[in-house]
Amino acid sequence: MRVGIVGLGYVGLPLALAFAEEGHDVVGVDADQRRVAAVGRGESFIEDVPSERLAAARGRITATTSYDELGDVEAVLIAVPTPLSRNREPDLGALVSASTSLARVLKAGQLVVLESTTYPGTTREQLVPLLEESGLAAGRDFNVAFSPERVDPGRTDYTLRNTPKVVGGLTPACLDRAVALYETVCDEIVTVSGPEPAELSKLLENVFRSVNIALVNELAMLCDRMGIDIWEVVEAAATKPYGFMRFDPGPGMGGHCLPVDPFYLSWKAREYGQPTEFVELAGEVNQRMPEFCVERIARALNDDSKPVRGSRIAILGVSYKPGVGDLRESPALKIMRLLAARGAELVYHDDHVPELVDFELSSSPLESVLEESDCAVIVTAHPGLDVELVVRAAQLVVDFRGVTRGLEAANLVRL
Ligand SMILES: NC(=O)c1ccc[n+]([C@@H]2O[C@H](COP(=O)([O-])OP(=O)(O)OC[C@H]3O[C@@H](n4cnc5c(N)ncnc54)[C@H](O)[C@@H]3O)[C@@H](O)[C@H]2O)c1
Repeated sequence: MRVGIVGLGYVGLPLALAFAEEGHDVVGVDADQRRVAAVGRGESFIEDVPSERLAAARGRITATTSYDELGDVEAVLIAVPTPLSRNREPDLGALVSASTSLARVLKAGQLVVLESTTYPGTTREQLVPLLEESGLAAGRDFNVAFSPERVDPGRTDYTLRNTPKVVGGLTPACLDRAVALYETVCDEIVTVSGPEPAELSKLLENVFRSVNIALVNELAMLCDRMGIDIWEVVEAAATKPYGFMRFDPGPGMGGHCLPVDPFYLSWKAREYGQPTEFVELAGEVNQRMPEFCVERIARALNDDSKPVRGSRIAILGVSYKPGVGDLRESPALKIMRLLAARGAELVYHDDHVPELVDFELSSSPLESVLEESDCAVIVTAHPGLDVELVVRAAQLVVDFRGVTRGLEAANLVRL
């Protein structure tokens, strides 16, 4: 098959590689010329896609900024960003632009699948009308489906191959086409009755995480007041063999998904006059965490007879999750902004993020940031972080990830 992928990011590039490695010819379209050029050279910019594998698949993957190349593919998968606008409403700008460009080259018999996370109704209400500007009718002249992406960047045990793939088609024939496509790269396909349940299932997955993280974060703030160790509580509760699923507290949610997706749902729910209080409350609690973290750092410094202003604070791990360099919505950046506003002098160490342009900072070696700082804050614990070294070498350590559990030291403070 010849498969087109629109948007070569965290979702699109691994998808392109998966189809190419199964022997399909892939045409990747991206608006970013630098990404297109990098794929052409076989150089990956996504941690989950090793450059060697991308280079090995180069004969099967071509990348371009031109939608014209999609005229002769059998299927087009759309994986463009679905962020929030400044006033935290769905921003479908990339999707509208991609769909409009695709409509100009769309051919009868093609299948178009939307993979971007979005509110229920997007495929039918937004994508289909834009594609039909081609003069072709969805469900009759071309097929349309929605299939949410479940990739978890940095994860190796669950991949596209062994993670069940949910698919909803506009018509039964659309569904059949989409299933036949994904069957070549996924072991298990889960079919639903249309695009809307598929769209909403993805939001349920992410809202579920957001709500549970908010719950445990709220308990962490309560535990701080009560003098109880939240990690001990979570670990004890997690021994229940049924009816409990473990979620860990932390400095707040980051990434493209959890801080963003719940707003897509609550925005759409307003159209139906149905409040989504759980969803919104979870977002509020999680958004408060960076402020709580800054208060916790200030208190720890105060106990050391130091003010925040003028203290040198080393942030360990600035990306939003371990093992990746993704900075989107990272709570570390929010913590850094709040600390900077209080007059702290900031340095950081993160092997995955060599530079923080907005802060005019570059990552410094771990040993030097530990030695030269008044306080080291573990915000994101990347694999391989030498926690014992951190506790030994830093004057004061504040750990928001619980990775120092098991260590006892006078200079150590945990969430
Ligand atoms: N990152 C994740 O872990 C993850 C997981 C599941 C679902 N998703 C969803 O998948 C979608 C894509 O996310 P991502 O993380 O891959 O984003 P990304 O920013 O990493 O990649 C998107 C790519 O699309 C390109 N692009 C933007 N507008 C375009 C246009 N009009 N035409 C062609 N290319 C265009 C960008 O240049 C970029 O390379 C989002 O809806 C996201 O919510 C992401």
